[in-house]
Amino acid sequence: MKPFYVTTPIYYVNDHPHIGTGYSTIAADVLSRYARLRGRPTRFLTGLDEHGLKIERRAREEGIDPKAFVDRMAQPFRDAWLALGCHYDDFIRTTEPRHQQRVKELWKRVKDAGDIYLGDYEDWYCVGCEGFKTEKDLLPGNICPQHQKPVERIKEVSYFFRLSKYQDALLKFYETHPNFVQPQTRFNEVKSLVKEGLRDLSISRTSFRWGIPVPDDSEHVMYVWFDALTNYISALGGPAAPGQAPLYDQYWPPSGEAVHLVGKDILRFHAVYWPAFLLSAGIEPPSQVWAHGWLTVNGVKMSKTLGNFLRPEPLIEAFGTDVLRFYLMREVALGQDGDFSIKNLIARYNGDLANGVGNLLSRVIVSLVKKNLGGRVPSPHPESLKDEDRALIAVAERCAQTAAEQMNAVAPHRALEAIFELVAAANKYVDQTAPWVLVKSGDITRLEQVVYTALETLRWVALMLWPVMPSKSDQLRQQLGLEAVMPTVGVDGWPSAWGGLGAGLETQSNQPLFPRIDKDQERRLWERFGVTADAATTIVPDSSPAKVKAHAPAAPIAPTAENKKPQAGEAGQAKGIITFDEFAKVDLRVAKVLAAESVPKSDKLLRLELDVGEGHPRQILAGIAKQYRPEQLVGKQIVIVANLKPRQMMGRESRGMVLAASDAQGLKLIIADGESSPGSTVG
Ligand code: MSP
Repeated sequence: MKPFYVTTPIYYVNDHPHIGTGYSTIAADVLSRYARLRGRPTRFLTGLDEHGLKIERRAREEGIDPKAFVDRMAQPFRDAWLALGCHYDDFIRTTEPRHQQRVKELWKRVKDAGDIYLGDYEDWYCVGCEGFKTEKDLLPGNICPQHQKPVERIKEVSYFFRLSKYQDALLKFYETHPNFVQPQTRFNEVKSLVKEGLRDLSISRTSFRWGIPVPDDSEHVMYVWFDALTNYISALGGPAAPGQAPLYDQYWPPSGEAVHLVGKDILRFHAVYWPAFLLSAGIEPPSQVWAHGWLTVNGVKMSKTLGNFLRPEPLIEAFGTDVLRFYLMREVALGQDGDFSIKNLIARYNGDLANGVGNLLSRVIVSLVKKNLGGRVPSPHPESLKDEDRALIAVAERCAQTAAEQMNAVAPHRALEAIFELVAAANKYVDQTAPWVLVKSGDITRLEQVVYTALETLRWVALMLWPVMPSKSDQLRQQLGLEAVMPTVGVDGWPSAWGGLGAGLETQSNQPLFPRIDKDQERRLWERFGVTADAATTIVPDSSPAKVKAHAPAAPIAPTAENKKPQAGEAGQAKGIITFDEFAKVDLRVAKVLAAESVPKSDKLLRLELDVGEGHPRQILAGIAKQYRPEQLVGKQIVIVANLKPRQMMGRESRGMVLAASDAQGLKLIIADGESSPGSTVG
């Protein structure tokens, strides 16, 4: 087996880690632990993407130097990954000299291959993606679909990479490496993209300084993706000549198997640009790019930009690291999107962990071994095996094989499915063999066999759960009288030979491994995380700055007839008196509707793109869908509150409020008479 090298994307440090980015890191940790358990030399890399315009601007907002800013942000990432049980071997930061030197070396190699030239760039750029965009990538009003923010126009002198030259070479590479991108559907998307034709790629910028200077032309800094992608080899000491960088020689293809785990949003960079840079430099591309889906809240990608993210800390505090890891790996099929739900987490916990593994462990160890077998693992009696024993052993062998196959196929959710099939079979076995009856009848030989079979099954389960739940697995082993898992290179630790549990080991039953969450605790957890009885996924972590109410109807921005019906005696009455100064704080403006569309899954909201004279369109979500069709609005001059604090609605940012009059008949927009310029003040 080749040495295994698994990487996460390196995260932007513009904000703190959340469980969306944690999901990527946990998945990589699970894959690396699995490889280690199988005895493979394994290396797990994660790190931070610290250059680029996005970071430079964020540092400026904070009023500090970009280097001071990135230094401050690095530790929270390290801490978060360790708190999530992720044991990386290396943590790379793109501001480190070891990285910068190697990126410059890659640049030189690509330049020497004749693939870099100086030209003029003019097109759109999304700072959120740190990506170049053409009009067809954008929503009306030049909005980036992912970040829901206007893109910027760039016109500057730039070095270009001859990406167009690599179209055929990439297609050939894809053909000869049929598993280069997984899942296959994503690979098909990549192939079509490349077949459509590739434009040369701008790979340097002159309009800001926060980046790695281009060798021999320090007017330019490198495009942040050229810089960032190189982390995967710079962390190994490459590019370097054979013998110069041992880790690079060992882990990068052709000697090693290098797997990049990435979110589907950044697949193009990894499956098109990265192999093209490497092919140009005469370096073999990675073995595989595995594109996972998004962790969503209410169907919308959890992200820093959209503000609907969950921090790991309160979840770890409430459920523990291993349970959170288990839930993410069990519930979300890698490759697909998955909604995060506290309710489902509790259901999975009680179903699989408390009623499954926890129940099996406590009924066998606490009730039988401790009380009737002197607290020690009994001797098995292979000579008198019965059909039900053989059947359980066969299930164990089949499930272990399936779980291994699924882990090899990077499908941890399916592997867990197989492991929990074994747990269910073992609980059924204990029901069927009724060891408590054997205690009463005094059939000690049979009792020992039944208990041994159940305990050995638990040993198998603990080993197979280790990549996902390392601490719980070790605690389970401790209760069986075993040492913690110690993966060893060259030694396959996956269970395959029945009977490895030594008779006579002293078991321990100090504390329940997965105590059941009862109804009262469940209610308290719901309260803590803001779950309402009818909402499937409402989550409001108390320490998260963003509060997300899934499935709760978004509050309409403009008051509607229903929620603003005049109360008895209120009709026609003025509200409390305010001073002129108070009124002057409200920035009322004329806005021209450029585009309008309904918001998926909302019967109240319309998404408006407005010209408010700011040079780029502004997005407002208004609760007027029941009264207006989108096409009725385009071209209208309406009045908005322009300085209302931006808020998230249905996963989109709304920047302002539309004014409308409401009475029992419904709601009517306030329209500015005549032709006022967009952005004119009202008042
Ligand atoms: N810096 C670039 C990556 C450079 S790699 C050479 C970047 N950083 S990021 O911080 O914006 O996001 C990195 C990755 O975080 C995503 O591609 C994805 O893997 C992960 N995720 C971010 N939000 C996520 C979810 N809501 N769900 C799952 N993964 C998420 O892009």
